[in-house]
Order: sequence, then structure tokens, then C-alpha cells
Amino acid sequence: MNGRQLPLLQTAVPGPSVAAWMERLAAVECPAITARRSGRAAAGATDPILWAEARGANVLDTDGNRFVDLTAGFGVAAVGHAHPKVVETITSQAGRLIHGMGDLFPTREKILLAERLAARTPGRLQHSIFGCNGADAVEAAIKTAVIATGRPRVLGFHNSYHGLSHGALSVSGYRDGFRLPFAARIGASDLRLPYASCRACPLGDTHPGCGQRCLTYLDHLLASATSGAGDIAAIIVEPIQVRGGFHLPPEGWLTRLREVTRARGILLIFDEVFTGFGRTGQWFAADHEGVEPDLLVVGKSLAGGLPLSACLGLPEVMEAWGATKGEAIHTSTFIGHPLACATALTTLDIIEEEGLVARSEALGAKLLADLRAAVGGHHAVGDIRGRGLLVGVELQRDGRPWAGGGVAAMQAMLERGFLMCPAGAAAEVASFHPPLVVTEEQLEAAVAAFAGWLATVQA
Ligand SMILES: Cc1ncc(COP(=O)(O)O)c(C=O)c1O
Repeated sequence: MNGRQLPLLQTAVPGPSVAAWMERLAAVECPAITARRSGRAAAGATDPILWAEARGANVLDTDGNRFVDLTAGFGVAAVGHAHPKVVETITSQAGRLIHGMGDLFPTREKILLAERLAARTPGRLQHSIFGCNGADAVEAAIKTAVIATGRPRVLGFHNSYHGLSHGALSVSGYRDGFRLPFAARIGASDLRLPYASCRACPLGDTHPGCGQRCLTYLDHLLASATSGAGDIAAIIVEPIQVRGGFHLPPEGWLTRLREVTRARGILLIFDEVFTGFGRTGQWFAADHEGVEPDLLVVGKSLAGGLPLSACLGLPEVMEAWGATKGEAIHTSTFIGHPLACATALTTLDIIEEEGLVARSEALGAKLLADLRAAVGGHHAVGDIRGRGLLVGVELQRDGRPWAGGGVAAMQAMLERGFLMCPAGAAAEVASFHPPLVVTEEQLEAAVAAFAGWLATVQA
């Protein structure tokens, strides 16, 4: 098994060379990206580390520090970084065929992967459109929904994150700053639906006594064209909102959302870019309730670290595109990239062979229990929730979400040898989504380090 290395912090972070690299980066990278670093520096945070190497659940930086990666590199490295079989496939495939002409002259790798995804994804999902990143696949799903229904609007939920391309932004509900500068191009802000973020219910209700009133309200909205629902093609939803703050809908919510959308003739798109491929302890989050969406969007961990995504759809929905008249009407240069598709096939093999879905469920349950036992009653911890190896700790100050608490946790954990990301609209959540090959020892060490940091946080 990969990643059987314990945390070993060899020097303090970051080393002097990092500052010089950051200066060079700031000179050549768009400020849209470096600005965040400056902001953090102004807030007293140190520079980030420079990744030099990564294997299993470990990352080494250019100063020789070794970290345990509790992020899986934005949720990508489910099978661990540089899994030997992934490296071997990349090497052998690269010697044969790196790039092809995906729509014009398809490759075996693309066909095999499309078949494999059709067999592995929920229900009757069968036809796929490949992309390079999550946002590409979201665009494909939105376009498909519009083509299939002849209606223009796709609705998303409060706090949802679907990527930063124009179409994805038009359905995301996360942070105004991402969308507002482009509002004139994307179109007026569309309605955002109330998500089942039960800790802070948008309707002010309390679960379970509410009877899932958010869905009753949604159904009511969709009931009549007069309320503005006449031209809705689809609703897009994350089965668990990750970036938006680790919101897990209560049991039955996705099933009922499926019923409501089906009854109203509105397509349902599941965005499983983060939750797919075992992350939540099932192959897909949809599998927990056996829900079949009309369209499914996947990405991140699909290709073992290479950029690849896919939108899958039910045959009757995808067929609305019609047969091409010689030229593909939805395509791109790298569509069905053979190197990425071959690596994805190996990644799916590894998930199966190493039992990583069950491992995610078991280790995730232990992580959740360990965190609750270690820091559950702490004054700065509002809630600890998750499913599989997808666990978030909501941090609080004076009983309210601690804006920036997740960033403070990230910095403190970096100094202790662990990589973390913040989540939530106010960065109030510290998130744990390590590679699924992470060891129990690494997770226990992470919990101890996290508890150690919290012990230093004043009330
Ligand atoms: C649920 C979800 N959808 C879509 C995306 C966008 O993916 P990408 O950044 O690869 O475009 C993300 C990225 O974090 C995501 O979490």
C-alpha cells in the first residue's frame, strides 16, 4: 500500500528559498492567483510551501520537509500520489500514444473508459462527454440539459460550487466575488435554491422536525410557470456540498429531490466532481440512496492525477443532441485524451483491487469518531460532520462560524507537518479529505496535531 509513511517534519517551514521563488512567481503569474497569497501574507500567514515530490499520502517540499497530505491535492489523489501502477501506465502509454484526435479518430482507451464508466456509474447513465476539468463537464451537462428540454435555465443551490467557467459560474452559489465581475456576460443572477445545510437552515428550520421544508418550498416554486418555473431545464446539485462548507443533506433528501424534479419534468444533474470514486464510502454519493440522476458530472480523482472529467447522461437525454452531420457539435482538442483515459482505467482498477471504497468508509468512520472524541467539546468547534474520507470541522468563535478559522487551521497544521484546505463561504471549516490510501497512523497523528493546535486557541 502506498503512503505508509508517518509524518516527519525535518525542518521548520518555509525555508528561505521559498520567499525567493514566491517573488519570481509574483512577477509572472496573474494577480488573480497570487493576490490570495499576498492577502494571506498580510494577515500574518507565512508563504506557502513549494511541492517538489509527492508519493502516497506524503508530499515533500523543496526544503526537504515531508508532509501528510490531508487534501489529496484538492481531492484528486484518491489512489495516492504517484501510485506505481499509475506511473507505469503513464510511462507505457506515453511510449505508444499520448494524444489523438478524440472525436474524429477515436482511440481504444477512450472507448474502454466510456464503457467502464457506463458500467460503474449509478443507474442507466451510459453516454459520456469527456472534458479536461470539472468545469468542462459541468458545461457539457448544462448544454445537454438545454438541448434535451428546449428550455434555457439551469438552477443551482445556495453555496454550491461547480467551477469558474461562465456556465459553471451561472449555476454556482459560492462567493459573489467569483461571479459578480462577469455578471453582465453570464446574465442576471438566477434564483438559488435552499440547500439542506441544516446547521444553518436557509429557511430557519430545524431538522428533523422540519419535514424537509426546503424541498416542499422547491416543489412549490417549480409548480407553476407564474412563479418563474416555466423555462427551467434542470437543477444541478452536489450530493454533498464540499467547498461550500461540508453540508450533508439528511437521509432521503436526494431521493425526494429526484422525485420532485421528475414529477415536474425537470432534469436533475448530480455534480460528483468531488464526491465521486469512493470519496464518501460508496462509489458515488448518489449510491448511498440509490438515486439515478439524468446527468452526472465527474472529474478530480478520475485519472489518478491527470486532468480528465466526464459528463454522463441517460441515453434518452443524451440522444437529444441528435446524430452529427459530419462535424461534432460538442468537442474539444483534447477530448478523450488517450493518456488520461488509459490512466483513468488503471485508477479504476486500483480503486477496485485495493478496496478503496470500503477503506474510505471504514477509515472515514474512524476519523469522524476520533475527531469527535478528541475535539468534540472544544469551544472553537461548532460541528464535526462527514461521510467516508470527507470530513469537515466547522470552527466557531463566540458560538458563530469563525470566519477564516479554516485558514488558521491550515497554517497551524502546515507547521505541524500536515496539508489541509479551508472550506465554507467564510472559510470557517477545516477539511479532511486525504488520499484513500492514507494510513490509520497518519490519520491518528493528524487528529492529535489538530487537537494540539486547538488547545492553543483561546476562547
Ligand atoms: C463539486 C465541484 N464541481 C466542480 C468543480 C470544478 O472543478 P475544476 O476545478 O476541475 O474545474 C469543483 C472543484 O473543486 C467541485 O468541487
